[in-house]
Amino acid sequence: MCGIVGYVGPRQATPLLLEGLKRLEYRGYDSAGIATLSNGGFTIHRTPGKLGNLVEKLNGSAAPGATGVGHTRWATHGRPTELNAHPQTDCTGKFVVVHNGIFENFAERKVELAKKGHTFRSETDTEVFAHEVEEAFRGDLLAAVRAAVQKLTGAYAVLVTSSREPGVLVAARSGPPIVLGLGQGENFVASDPVALVPWTRDVIFLEDGDVARVDASGARVVDHSGAGLDRPVHRIVWDAVAAEKGGYRHFMAKEIHEQPTAIAETLGGKVSLETGELYLDSPLLSPDRVATFDRVLLLACGTSWHAGLVGKFLIEGMARIPVEVDYGSEFRYRRPVVNERTLTLGISQSGETADTVAALSEARRAGSPIGAIVNSPGSQIARMVEAVFATHAGPEIGVASTKAFSTQLAVLYLIAAKLRASRGLAPVLSPEERQALAHLPRAVGAALAVEGELEELARKYQHARDFLYLGRGLHYPVALEGALKLKEISYIHAEGYPAGEMKHGPIALIDENMPVVVLAPHDSWREKTLSNLREVKSRDGIAIVLGTRPDPEVAAIADHVVLVPETIAELQPILSVVPLQLFAYHVAVRRGCDVDQPRNLAKSVTVE
Ligand code: AGP
Repeated sequence: MCGIVGYVGPRQATPLLLEGLKRLEYRGYDSAGIATLSNGGFTIHRTPGKLGNLVEKLNGSAAPGATGVGHTRWATHGRPTELNAHPQTDCTGKFVVVHNGIFENFAERKVELAKKGHTFRSETDTEVFAHEVEEAFRGDLLAAVRAAVQKLTGAYAVLVTSSREPGVLVAARSGPPIVLGLGQGENFVASDPVALVPWTRDVIFLEDGDVARVDASGARVVDHSGAGLDRPVHRIVWDAVAAEKGGYRHFMAKEIHEQPTAIAETLGGKVSLETGELYLDSPLLSPDRVATFDRVLLLACGTSWHAGLVGKFLIEGMARIPVEVDYGSEFRYRRPVVNERTLTLGISQSGETADTVAALSEARRAGSPIGAIVNSPGSQIARMVEAVFATHAGPEIGVASTKAFSTQLAVLYLIAAKLRASRGLAPVLSPEERQALAHLPRAVGAALAVEGELEELARKYQHARDFLYLGRGLHYPVALEGALKLKEISYIHAEGYPAGEMKHGPIALIDENMPVVVLAPHDSWREKTLSNLREVKSRDGIAIVLGTRPDPEVAAIADHVVLVPETIAELQPILSVVPLQLFAYHVAVRRGCDVDQPRNLAKSVTVE
């Protein structure tokens, strides 16, 4: 998704804007630009491609001014060209805008504005907003932006500055996130707090419908009518190092290796490993409340949806409550049967995924109480639900989700156990469950130890054109996740399938050029998985087995076997996914792909 940065204060804005944009690079983009104000005029530099192109263009050229805005754009309307890059301006060049999101009615507004004599240079919806502000301006930029946002519909986070009111930034939000950073005698605006950490940890998260005026002395938040709003100041607790690579070549590598710590941090405070007591004291999970639910609905997208599928197995298996899992993008448009007897939980790393936000709103509108598992405190989802079940993975910068997924599974396990307790089925975790949880971070660390084997497999199969991932039961979603990891960062086509489904179609794909990754923990489906393996080999497929115990029968059939530690069935997916993450990572590295910012992808999809 696009990145927004703004600065107003005593310092030269350009280096601060570039540093902030650099910290937002993980969001994915294909052009960049900055605008700074000095001596009553704006200096604007924009380039297609990566931030380095902008830095190169700025080398030696002036970009003076203590007020400025910057942007990394992920093209939605109009190709990633210099002309379509942000910042965009009005006819006079006195109003400058950067924008995340989509103005859905920009075409008709463009016609109306053109009738009033406005001329347009770009193909973007953003430029239309700049002309709306110009049209509405009567000496007060905050009022002009308030008026302009009421003319346009869609999801947006906009930041505006003007030479008509120097030293002022005006931000507005309806959908994509935007935060204000409060410094000492200087203030900032950004899409994500990670861009502000070098200068301030005190941030204000704007809510949908908020408009904020920011100058060097402070910030004021109002609603569309201009009425003042009291937004709390949050303190960003994770440190700047957490948002750095920490010596790894890529954020994704760091985040894969952070999983033991992330899981330990996530479990902390939610369960007693001595007594097995669960501390998820949410009003949504109390015995009285749970008694009113006849099903659970899990809403998510992408990797988080895969976590939801694991959650279905866990909650149905442990708490014996029916669970439905749906994509946010599907749920929001079908006429779902949801009511107050449905407990709805969203699952989201960013807490800003537009489809998940909209689906949760739909469930709430239908009377269902909503909670969420999120990794981003202060995010829109975290602020819209009755209960947050936080993962504590720390900032996940790599576009491909890794530590967020494994910590989501840990939280889903605890929620399943809490629902089980609230239904009187098992008041606390059993000794075996307590021991498995206590050992989990170390077990994940042990699973990371197979990295060398996966690196060798990546070297061997980096040129394959198709992969099939097979898993049964709890490992079917892990197969889906393994396939998604590979395809989204190495661009190799990969499909995940329930192992039992292979004979209903995908087996036709198998030949001597197709690696088939089979998730085969030593569990109750072992015999069936063995027969799947034989089916793969009888068609000359390449069988890569991820197991948990040495197994002579498997070894006699498979081309490669990788073993990960064994734990209780409900937690095994957290261990089994690790080699799949490592494999995808090393294949992508060998193929020279942009691992942290894969083509066409964004870390947080804040538009439909
Ligand atoms: C996962 O590797 C992808 N980056 C993507 O599928 C992601 O999981 C999805 O967009 C949902 O994001 P969220 O968890 O922030 O809601």
